Amino acid sequence: MELLDKLKWRYAAKAMNGEKVPQEKVDRILEAARLAPTSSGLQPFEIIVVTNPEIKEKIKAVAWNQSVVTDCSHLLVFAAWDNYTEERINKMFDLTNEIRGFKNEGWENYRQQLLGIYPQRDPEVNFQHAARQAYIAFTEALTAAAFEKVDATPMEGFDPDAVDEILGLREKGLRSCVLLPIGYRNTEEDWLVNLVKVRRSKEDLVTVID
Ligand SMILES: Cc1cc2nc3c(=O)[nH]c(=O)nc-3n(C[C@H](O)[C@H](O)[C@H](O)COP(=O)(O)O)c2cc1C
Repeated sequence: MELLDKLKWRYAAKAMNGEKVPQEKVDRILEAARLAPTSSGLQPFEIIVVTNPEIKEKIKAVAWNQSVVTDCSHLLVFAAWDNYTEERINKMFDLTNEIRGFKNEGWENYRQQLLGIYPQRDPEVNFQHAARQAYIAFTEALTAAAFEKVDATPMEGFDPDAVDEILGLREKGLRSCVLLPIGYRNTEEDWLVNLVKVRRSKEDLVTVID
């Protein structure tokens, strides 16, 4: 199947059947998220993979009781850094130097530029910036899931503070921003499964300036 066919196949499943997604598929979905591009390559987020049934139940209770939270195979929680600190920025720049095996003056100047801006900014501004990067990885995971013929439900319908509390995210300097339950659609129970996908027309969405 072509990528676009897979994107047409995917939809935001409203009911899943509890079937387990094979680990190699989960790994490839997570790898797609890991490979996502991010601003300055900082990857300012983590992904928490929840399979524990009790924890899933607790999260469902603060996620509008959406059944996919417990009926999914794996619940991916995308959690962004709560702030940009010197330590976090340096860690990523040092990692780049370590992996590439050399130091580059332009790159070091860029490091100083970021250190001069990000840690001094309002933490909420930094979190919002980090969350946007997490959403890029989230979208890559969503597309990768479709590629694997695994269903996924993008979900913002939850109380992030409550999820942070359940998973102990604040202590780790993280804040949840979006959930991605992955699993397999329950065609008997899902009211959305047979409905036609609705999208604005290309003409309405795209402006070409030649
Ligand atoms: C960021 C984001 C948050 C969403 N939150 C929810 C949610 O909490 N519950 C839900 O059932 N669908 C949620 N959706 C699904 C959208 O309603 C759905 O993607 C949209 O209507 C397009 O339909 P499709 O994904 O089935 O093609 C969310 C989608 C996105 C991208």
